[in-house]
Order: sequence, then structure tokens, then C-alpha cells
Amino acid sequence: MFPEITHDDVFRLETERLWLRWPRLADAQAFVVLINDPEVTRHTTLPRPYRSQDAEDFIRFACAANAAGESLYLVLAPKRDPNTPIGVISSEGAQSRGESRLGFWLARAFWGQGLMSEAASAFVDLVFKITSLERIVSAAAPDNIASLRLQERLGFTRTGRTVIDAADGGSLEIITTELKRGGARTTFGARRPKLSST
Ligand SMILES: CC(C)(COP(=O)(O)OP(=O)(O)OC[C@H]1O[C@@H](n2cnc3c(N)ncnc32)[C@H](O)[C@@H]1OP(=O)(O)O)[C@@H](O)C(=O)NCCC(=O)NCCS
Repeated sequence: MFPEITHDDVFRLETERLWLRWPRLADAQAFVVLINDPEVTRHTTLPRPYRSQDAEDFIRFACAANAAGESLYLVLAPKRDPNTPIGVISSEGAQSRGESRLGFWLARAFWGQGLMSEAASAFVDLVFKITSLERIVSAAAPDNIASLRLQERLGFTRTGRTVIDAADGGSLEIITTELKRGGARTTFGARRPKLSST
């Protein structure tokens, strides 16, 4: 689905304050610390507690999916400190001309500075630029105001509500959302792709 440009770990995306780069095994310990914050996992399906093995399994899985062009998982890192991961953004399960699922989390210390808006805007722009996807879907818990607001600002609209399995064995009610190619408020989102994708 994703074209060759993203299949290698030299691929990275630059925003004003961030690098969005492939995950590395060296990120695992930082992921454990950052994700074991209940405020970060509260609205997500990330395992709790989040162990070193979870982080290493995720990084291996993400790199394999990136290399195969099936998905794109990128780590957010400050430009001044590119080896330090502070979050993840992903476009998963993409099928040619179909849809993919946007997911993201950011370390709590960096919330409220517009960093995920900056990353997600560039990321969504990239996904529409380099794939033939017609829409990106996402979701958020009804009380996850930051995620819903961020998505709304990108042009996502609400499509319904559903209940999914939570990591703790319980359930999580979510609002489902979508962003159609033509509805994206980004540079490339409204255009047809110029690069051919696999
Ligand atoms: C959701 C998340 C990634 C937002 O990251 P962030 O960098 O803090 O978001 P931004 O600073 O770009 O803000 C996005 C919007 O939400 C608003 N916002 C941010 N934090 C908020 C809060 N606590 N309450 C209400 N609004 C908030 C911002 O004002 C902004 O809206 P605006 O553009 O109209 O000003 C971050 O809170 C997070 O990682 N949460 C835990 C994991 C998670 O919920 N992931 C998403 C699962 S659907």
C-alpha cells in the first residue's frame, strides 16, 4: 500500500519542531516509561502495565509493517533531540484505494503545545500524498476532548459510536470518525496522488 519511499528506515518526515521517524529498538525503554502513565493510556487500547516486552514486540511489528508497506508507524522526536521518542503516530491496515486507521499518542509532558496537531497535519498530508487511499478513519473516547478537537481541526467528521474491547478486559465506548481525501484541510489532502503506490 505505502510506496517504496517509506519501506526503509532512512525515511523521515520533518515538521517545524519534530522529526517523524521509524521506531528503533533503542526506543523501547522510553516507551515503557512514557506509556506507563495512566493519563496516556486512559483512552487507548495500549496494554497496562506496558512492559519492555510489549515495547520490543511493538517496535519489531511496526518496523516489519513499515518495511512491507502495509502500515506506517512513525515516532515523534524533538528536532533538537532526535534520539528521544515522545510519541507515536500511525496509519494502519491500509488497503489500496480503501481506508487506513489513524492512531497517535504523545507523552504527557508535551501535551498542549500543538505538537500532535503539527505531527498529524503533516502525517495525514503525507498519507494522502503518497497513497491512493480515499479515506482515513480514526476514533476517540467521548471525553477525549484533545483528540476529538485535533481530528476536527484536521477535517475529520464523526460517523457514529461503537464499543471496543479495552486492554484491561473491559470495554471502551468510542466515537468513530473519518477524513475523506477531499475533506482534508492540508496541502495535499484535497489533491489526487502524484506518486504511484504499490
Ligand atoms: C490526544 C493527544 C495526542 C493530543 O496531543 P497534544 O499535542 O497535546 O494536542 P494539541 O496540543 O495539538 O491540541 C489539539 C487540540 O486539542 C486541544 N486540547 C489539548 N489538550 C486539551 C485538553 N486537555 N482539554 C481540552 N482541549 C485540549 C487543543 O487546544 C487543540 O485544539 P485547538 O487547535 O482548537 O487549540 C494527547 O493528549 C495524548 O497523547 N493523549 C493520550 C493518548 C490519546 O488519547 N491518543 C488518542 C487516542 S484517540
